[in-house]
Amino acid sequence: METPKIADTKCKSINLEPDVYFFCACGRSADGVYCDGSHEGTGLRPKKCRIDEPKNISYCMCKQSKSFPYCDGEHNQLNK
Ligand code: FES
Repeated sequence: METPKIADTKCKSINLEPDVYFFCACGRSADGVYCDGSHEGTGLRPKKCRIDEPKNISYCMCKQSKSFPYCDGEHNQLNK
C-alpha cells in the first residue's frame, strides 16, 4: 500500500450540507478534498462520512490527521 500524498500543508475550511461524503484520503484527487477515483491502484481508500447537519469543518489536506477528515494540527509538524 502506498502512503498518502500531501495535498496541501494547511487545512481547508469547507461548508458541508447533510449528506454522505467520500473524502479523499490518498491526496491524489484533483481538488484534494473529495474522492474522484484517483486512489485506484494505491491500496488506499476514501473516508466515508455521514454529515447529519450543516456544518463548517477544518478539513485535513495533509492527510496526516489522526482525526481525518478533520484537521488535528498535524500539518504544523510538516511546516517545521
Ligand atoms: S481519490 Fe483519494 S481516496 Fe479516492
